[in-house]
Amino acid sequence: ASSTEVDVSAIQPGQAIKTTFRKQPLFVRNLTPAEIAAADAVPVSSLRDPETLEQRTKPGKTNWLITLGVCTHLGCVPLGAGEGENKGPFGGYFCPCHGSAYDTAGRIRQGPAPTNLHVPDYVFTSDTVVTVG
Ligand code: FES
Repeated sequence: ASSTEVDVSAIQPGQAIKTTFRKQPLFVRNLTPAEIAAADAVPVSSLRDPETLEQRTKPGKTNWLITLGVCTHLGCVPLGAGEGENKGPFGGYFCPCHGSAYDTAGRIRQGPAPTNLHVPDYVFTSDTVVTVG
C-alpha cells in the first residue's frame, strides 16, 4: 500500500484542505487555539465515540487534525475543508447527505454517523511534511 506526503506549510490556522489518500478524500486541518479549546471542553463521556483531541492527534501537534474526509454514515464527503464553508453546528465538518455534524476534533456530535472521522496512520517527517499511510 502506498503512502502520501502532504506539505502542510501553507495551511493557516483555521484552514483545512482536502487532498487524497489511497483514492479517498483526506482532510488536513490546522486548528486555532479556540478550536482546540472547544474540543478539549467537551466531556469525553458525553461522546458517541469517546476520544480526546489528544488521542486523535500527535504529541505537540494537537493543532493538526488529519482525518479521512469520508462520513462514517454512508460515505459522503463532509463540508468544511476545501469546498463549502459549512462547518456545521459543532464547528468541524458537516455532512450534507443526512446531517451528520462533526466537531473540531472530527468527532461525531449529531446525526446518524456512528463513529468519528477516521484518523489514518501518519507521521510528521519534518515540521511541515506529513507522511500518511
Ligand atoms: Fe453523512 Fe449520511 S453519509 S450523514
